Amino acid sequence: MKNKLKKSQKFSLLTAFYITLLQTLLLSVFLYIFTEINFYFLFYWTLFSYTFSAVLIHLRLEKYVFNSIKKIYKDLTLLETTTFNNSPINTDMATLKKEIDAYAKNKKLELEALKGREEYRKEFIGNVSHELKTPLFTVQGYISTLIEGAAEDPEIRDKYLKRADKGVDRLIYIVKDLDMITKLEIGDANLTLKTFDIIELITNVFELLEIKAKHKNISLLLDKDYTTPIMVVADQERIQQVLTNLVVNSIKYGHKNGTTEISVENLNSSKLIVRVTDNGEGIENAHLTRLFERFYRVDKSGSREEGGSGLGLSIVKHIIEAHEEKIYVESKFAVGSEFSFTLQKQN
Ligand SMILES: Nc1ncnc2c1ncn2[C@@H]1O[C@H](COP(=O)(O)OP(=O)(O)O)[C@@H](O)[C@H]1O
Ligand SMILES: [Mg+2]
Repeated sequence: MKNKLKKSQKFSLLTAFYITLLQTLLLSVFLYIFTEINFYFLFYWTLFSYTFSAVLIHLRLEKYVFNSIKKIYKDLTLLETTTFNNSPINTDMATLKKEIDAYAKNKKLELEALKGREEYRKEFIGNVSHELKTPLFTVQGYISTLIEGAAEDPEIRDKYLKRADKGVDRLIYIVKDLDMITKLEIGDANLTLKTFDIIELITNVFELLEIKAKHKNISLLLDKDYTTPIMVVADQERIQQVLTNLVVNSIKYGHKNGTTEISVENLNSSKLIVRVTDNGEGIENAHLTRLFERFYRVDKSGSREEGGSGLGLSIVKHIIEAHEEKIYVESKFAVGSEFSFTLQKQN
């Protein structure tokens, strides 16, 4: 503030000095020609002229600067109501500069966030179309072959129809997973919390996945006999989804004749921990940190038969985090994996 006043004062004083100098010179010439030079008169004239000009210039200058700044503030307020709303308008250039800098920085951050989201969107769409392409082309391949004549042979017809059907199934579950992850990622989790028995839910999930497990002769077990219910507070449907995804993975990436075991333990006075343990192929350390990312698969090209959309674990993570709970993974390559998550106990 001080600095600026000094500057504008200096400006006014200097301008007033030039004006007074010119006026005094002209007046002196005028007096010299028409009457005679009166030094008293000239002295008072100079003094008056100088003071008057200096004060007037200073006031006009202040008013001009003030109005310009007010206009800048007004324009900025139109753009960004929150930043400038309550700040008093002042003529302090340094403050204005600071505020405009802050404003610009803010805008830059906003822009970067938008750019990030745009990148994310592009990547997401790229991944989605890539995921859909494979099963779609498979289905198309079988159907074209059938139309071109393969349908004549009943055996081949049935085989190809079954494969096409499998491809369509795959498309459907990818789309379902995408739908779910989109809802979760836009924060539309909308949890419906209620109290239920987690042991009963685990048993249900085991029953639903029994046939899938039988194909590989994998046993789905609880670690012990839970004689009394264990009540938790959570969104039952979503936790069922979590358990299903984890158990399906343990079957998909489990060895033939293997075991998937679930245990429920007290973690502390308010939390439980649910562990899903398998003795399957395990995961190498290098992959563990990225496992919960969307579309992340350990085996990218390999056995597509076993590969899902790569969305299962990111759905699991989203659901658990929407509950404000934690998910952990421990795994040893060629030995097995353990996925565990916490849940709120009923008080
Ligand atoms: N129980 C498990 N044992 C071994 N690997 C697993 C297990 N669960 C997940 N994975 C690995 O993590 C990857 C990501 O899992 P997920 O997100 O469910 O995707 P998807 O099952 O669709 O491939 C899988 O591709 C698999 O390589
Ligand atoms: Mg999966």
